[in-house]
Amino acid sequence: MMTKKRNAKALAAAGATLLALAVGSATQAEDDTREMVEMPTIMQEHMLGNMRDHVRALEDILAYLADGRGKDAADVAEARLGLSSLDLHGAAHIATFMPQPMQEAGTEMHRAASRFATLATEAEVDMSVESQQALFGALSEVTQACNACHAGYRIR
Ligand code: HEC
Repeated sequence: MMTKKRNAKALAAAGATLLALAVGSATQAEDDTREMVEMPTIMQEHMLGNMRDHVRALEDILAYLADGRGKDAADVAEARLGLSSLDLHGAAHIATFMPQPMQEAGTEMHRAASRFATLATEAEVDMSVESQQALFGALSEVTQACNACHAGYRIR
């Protein structure tokens, strides 16, 4: 009984330490090497709204792929992340606030999503392992492009 209690205490302490570490590292501004990009509040909100839709799009894409519906995955990727999504996101207007390399990171993400869309359409027809693996590779290029920009920039 005593040992059990002590173990529970030790576990709780270890948990608290881990939590403190995680919170600490997330809020330590001096570790943050991302470039701050200033933009009006309304543009910030618009951009973050786009970002949240990006994750929802990834969710839809993965769900369609799990169902073997490559064409539907392709349509989501092209319309909401690909080159066709630029108007939807008001990209031209937001881009005027971004430094050139950040704009390029955005373009790279849109290109990667359009490349994925092309492959996903083909992969619905060609269910070979090679084709499906190529599709995973193309999707990981999209998320790599998300992370490349996130690693370099912040807006708040
Ligand atoms: C051109 C740069 C760029 C690209 C590409 C990009 N993001 Fe972002 N994203 C940002 C910035 C900048 C922020 C705000 C970071 C900050 O200041 O906290 C952000 C924030 C977010 C947020 C937080 C939204 C919120 O409401 O807090 C999510 C989620 C997100 N991005 C998802 C994605 C996903 C998924 C992709 C790829 C499909 C992606 N982003 C591509 C620049 C980018």
